[in-house]
Amino acid sequence: MDIKRKLIIDTDPGIDDAIAIAIALFSEKLDVKLITTVAGNVSVDLVTENALRLLTFFDKKVPVAKGAGEPLIQKFLDAKDIHGATGMDGYEFGEPDRSNLLEEHAVNAMRRVILESETPVTIAAIGPLTNIALLLKMYPEVKSNIDEIVFMGGSITRGNKTVMGEFNIATDPEAAKIVFDSGINLLMAGLDMGLKALVHPEDSEKIKILGKTGDMMYSLFQKYRGGSFKTGLKMYDSCAVAYLLCPEMYELTDTFIDVETSSSLTLGCTIVDLKGYLGKPANAKVCTDINQDMFKKWFISSIEKCI
Ligand code: BDR
Ligand code: CA
Repeated sequence: MDIKRKLIIDTDPGIDDAIAIAIALFSEKLDVKLITTVAGNVSVDLVTENALRLLTFFDKKVPVAKGAGEPLIQKFLDAKDIHGATGMDGYEFGEPDRSNLLEEHAVNAMRRVILESETPVTIAAIGPLTNIALLLKMYPEVKSNIDEIVFMGGSITRGNKTVMGEFNIATDPEAAKIVFDSGINLLMAGLDMGLKALVHPEDSEKIKILGKTGDMMYSLFQKYRGGSFKTGLKMYDSCAVAYLLCPEMYELTDTFIDVETSSSLTLGCTIVDLKGYLGKPANAKVCTDINQDMFKKWFISSIEKCI
């Protein structure tokens, strides 16, 4: 019996995305059916190339579909300052095998994969939520065959793109609003988790010696500006995959979440109503804490499998 969880990864690689994708690709608990790309850390053309490069590096056959090139309404602003001009600076991947690239748009590919699946599909969303919002608006019939949308994004406290806005949500707040209002099972692994999901120099040294995968990841770490190599690199996107593979590392609560879409100061700020001020029923599970030791052990042992 197939007990692997069917997964679509919607992503903007992105150095931390690259690590999260690698872990998912090599997990015996996940069956990655499709990778869709979205403008985020860099342009959609570059992140699509990066997804293809990763698959070529790992010699994996997984279809990739290119998605939205800009947010629904907001002006697109990338995160080259964090991931470098290519989005995955630090390692020479070489030319990708383009046979993994579908001609279909990401939204159509997601629709097809979800409707064709005999069992509900999970989406790991580790970039802005533009593609997912388009999917839900254009093809609402997919909702009943989506098990859960596990997303890295938002924050219980403050932001990293703006004072209150976390990058993935603040890049496309209107898309996030559509997803939060969708009625689908949601799991939020937000910025607060990413800030604690750290890779310290001693961890990087352990990773470095893990063959060509270790060499590649260690090289990316040299250029990654999500945190610092010395005081801890923040593995934001691995937090979403960690929930799928080792949820015991989290403290979770059911709560109501929303996103600010109309304020110039707090645009893209997630409202995580842990104390129930708004009196609304929960629409998401939210990770409120992470066991850092468990994360670290899980992270390194997961990378050991990426060969
Ligand atoms: C998120 O923003 C991106 O830069 C990372 O890849 C991650 O998805 C963290 O705020
Ligand atoms: Ca990302």
